[in-house]
Amino acid sequence: MTGAPVTLMWVKGSGGDLGTLTEDGLAVLRLDRLRALAGVYPGVEREDEMVAAFDHCLYGKGGAAPSIDTAMHGLVDAAHVDHLHPDAGIALACAADGEKLTAECFGDSVVWVPWRRPGFRLGLDIAAVKEAHPRAIGCVLGGHGITAWGDTSEECERRSLHIVRTAEAFLAERGGPEPFGPVVEGFGPLPEAERRERAAALAPYVRGLASQDAPQVGHFTDAEPVLDFLARAEHPRLAALGTSCPDHFLRTKVRPLVLDLPADAPLDRAVARLRELHTAYREEYAAYYARHATEDSPAMRGADPAIVLVPGVGMFSFGRDKQTARVAGEFYVNAIHVMRGAEAVSSYAPIEESEKFRIEYWELEEAKLRRMPRPKPLATRVALVTGAGSGIGRAIAHRLVAEGACVVVADLDAASAETVAAELGGPDRAVAVAMDVTSEEAIGAGLRAALFAFGGVDLVVNNAGISVSKPLLDTTARDWDVQHTIMARGSFLVAREAARVMIAQGLGGDIVYIVSKNAVFAGPNNIAYSATKADQAHQVRLLAAELGEHGIRVNGVNPDGVVRGSGIFAGGWGAQRAATYGIAEEELGAFYAGRTLLKREVLPEHVADAVFALTGGDLAHTTGLHVPVDAGVAAAFLR
Ligand SMILES: NC(=O)c1ccc[n+]([C@@H]2O[C@H](COP(=O)([O-])OP(=O)(O)OC[C@H]3O[C@@H](n4cnc5c(N)ncnc54)[C@H](O)[C@@H]3O)[C@@H](O)[C@H]2O)c1
Repeated sequence: MTGAPVTLMWVKGSGGDLGTLTEDGLAVLRLDRLRALAGVYPGVEREDEMVAAFDHCLYGKGGAAPSIDTAMHGLVDAAHVDHLHPDAGIALACAADGEKLTAECFGDSVVWVPWRRPGFRLGLDIAAVKEAHPRAIGCVLGGHGITAWGDTSEECERRSLHIVRTAEAFLAERGGPEPFGPVVEGFGPLPEAERRERAAALAPYVRGLASQDAPQVGHFTDAEPVLDFLARAEHPRLAALGTSCPDHFLRTKVRPLVLDLPADAPLDRAVARLRELHTAYREEYAAYYARHATEDSPAMRGADPAIVLVPGVGMFSFGRDKQTARVAGEFYVNAIHVMRGAEAVSSYAPIEESEKFRIEYWELEEAKLRRMPRPKPLATRVALVTGAGSGIGRAIAHRLVAEGACVVVADLDAASAETVAAELGGPDRAVAVAMDVTSEEAIGAGLRAALFAFGGVDLVVNNAGISVSKPLLDTTARDWDVQHTIMARGSFLVAREAARVMIAQGLGGDIVYIVSKNAVFAGPNNIAYSATKADQAHQVRLLAAELGEHGIRVNGVNPDGVVRGSGIFAGGWGAQRAATYGIAEEELGAFYAGRTLLKREVLPEHVADAVFALTGGDLAHTTGLHVPVDAGVAAAFLR
């Protein structure tokens, strides 16, 4: 407008993730205005007001809300400023004598900046350091991370990498052996198969504990650095000190819960001890809040641990969705590397607990949380859908993911399960598992897949099925057995194993059976299929009666005439039905629609809608119900 040039700064949005950053995730500010704020800065006591002041520096609409570290990027007199949290950098930053070690490692090319909470003052500190040390390429921020600057993006990146690699080499050269102390008898990793089995057995209990205040999705890792840390003598002391970098402890909570039993302790003892430690953890967390909260602190956000460490087995991490749970775990692995580095050359000295509290309950962090979209109705729920590689099951998996659930796509046909899981957006949302519901072993493996991928299971849809339409006299014993083995027996086995996990979690749950109009309606040429559907229908009532005390609701959906997308219809059943009715196979959908009261064709999505209606929260007081999704078939009315 004025024709005068303006220098702009692009900086990551608050709470954004560099790995998935797009232009929308950047904030854009006028640098002259941002720097002019230094002249009106009212001091550390009124630090938070500076974030509102950034609004006066925005260019155009400004893009995303600017990062909490905006001041550091703008005030330092350089065209490019990178701020990073590399393990080796934080190790020096968290070493008890970090300032001395930084000088020994870098001379005067990288300068020490004592710990200060992220914000405007920290930006001014770093700007002053750069001015006072013209030869410096960056700094180590005590307790926190590193910052580098340069004239170009490439120079800045080169300098950042130089700082990281120099710190890594310094730690490797200077570091003493066994920074975590010797291996403690009984705390080493269990052999892999035993370890996985123990992890699967513990997972539902651990998720239940971590979800006491709010339901959580879980992530599990038995990566070598975790198992090594937990095997060694110093891990209880170090874990109790907690993580240091703000990015870490905002995700990991100030400290983890650590099981203090050897790896081979009996399962019931481990579970009982975890319960005791969880109670103590919650008390300690509440005490931490009480020690530091002031009148205007936000309310306590939940006292459950985000990280649970089990020696010999691995680490469970938790979050409001899979990505958050996974990143919490990844950050704890980073924190292990930080502790190792710091202990190798010095001793690990994270920032003070009071400072952690000020960040965890900082109004600006609270604002970040407030900006987050409202959770979807099925957020945090883990679903397993059998036969989800095709037709109705696939539509259900799509709907559940769209409503926020994590889904295990289970199907006999591994390739179609993989395709559907990929359609759903990959491993943070859905995983595929090859599962034959006639095999107890395969069902066990399928549920273990849910436990390892998402920490547990809350919602199971018994949908897998096949259909053979034959008159009584042509129905062989094998026809009968095959249909009953897949549908009646298969759904019984899946429900039993899922209920085991749900009861251990103590978080209630949903089991939905995709039954059929044919469970109620008596038509010709359908003895094996309809009888097994009637069996499934009664399982709904029996299990609703039995599992109610655990908060597990069991309901059914009775579809009819779902031709489009159905493998059952495409695979011969459609041709048989069409022949029975004397019509062309492609007219079957319209034919079924014509028979209904509403004259509408039923699609797989309509069945999925019913599953969501039953599980999305509005029917929380309903169990033992069957919902017809058949566009109205009077002969199949329930009474
Ligand atoms: N299509 C309809 O009109 C209709 C009507 C009423 C009920 N149903 C029921 O809905 C369910 C899904 O039917 P659809 O029409 O989507 O069929 P579909 O063939 O498209 O899907 C069924 C899926 O189940 C899988 N499956 C078969 N045997 C399995 C096993 N042993 N273990 C694991 N997975 C197995 C198949 O591989 C397939 O992916 C079935 O239970 C069916 O009886 C369908």
